Amino acid sequence: MNQNTSAGNLVWQAASVTPEARVQLLRQRPVTLWMTGLSGAGKSTLAFALEKRLIELGHACFVLDGDNVRHGLNADLGFSPEARTENIRRIAEVAKLMNAAGLIVITSFISPYCEDRHMARELIGVEKFREIHISTTLKSCEQRDPKGLYQKARAGLINEFTGVSAPYEVPEDPCLSLDTSELQVEQCLHFLLGVLRPFINETAGQQTAKGRA
Ligand SMILES: Nc1ncnc2c1ncn2[C@@H]1O[C@H](COP(=O)(O)OP(=O)(O)OP(=O)(O)O)[C@@H](O)[C@H]1O
Ligand SMILES: [Mg+2]
Repeated sequence: MNQNTSAGNLVWQAASVTPEARVQLLRQRPVTLWMTGLSGAGKSTLAFALEKRLIELGHACFVLDGDNVRHGLNADLGFSPEARTENIRRIAEVAKLMNAAGLIVITSFISPYCEDRHMARELIGVEKFREIHISTTLKSCEQRDPKGLYQKARAGLINEFTGVSAPYEVPEDPCLSLDTSELQVEQCLHFLLGVLRPFINETAGQQTAKGRA
């Protein structure tokens, strides 16, 4: 191993810009909304709709989406339990960096294992992590089958497909559960913005009050 990159020689460099300065600049407190649920549950649809709404409201945010991340950062990973864990670890580290930059992060990954989601929560920090279960049933997801993946999985063309040939562990205590077969996108956005309210309202209010003074 290159001595220059070994952990023993690394020194954490302290920044002079504080998290509070970023809160003041962006008028929001960073948070990660961690969406979990079956394929076809509606994670990406809701994540991108929420991102659009937040930008319209003037908030700095970014979606980390399963398929997109697997095109680049995690292109080397498959779908075995070990690879899924590494997928989640890297995503959580990226979300943590984006939160450190002051952004609101929305993640949309199946993230089927409780243990992996707990790891993400520990990495990101409990106070910045909100687990959102997109709880649409397997039956509804399979009926939708927007990518034709369930059909392929049932035909045995995809191995280790969540809900068919790999497990999905339901969150024990999510911040919010949304079944998109019962709720319209707009209704889901209402609930999601409710979760975000403490992160986007308080500081925005302070800034407005200051601006008027
Ligand atoms: N209320 C709703 N909220 C979200 N999606 C909905 C809703 N009603 C219908 N849909 C449809 O359900 C499908 C959800 O697909 P989407 O790609 O968002 O799922 P996903 O959870 O991201 O799946 P994957 O894990 O495979 O990426 C879309 O075709 C979307 O139009
Ligand atoms: Mg998706």
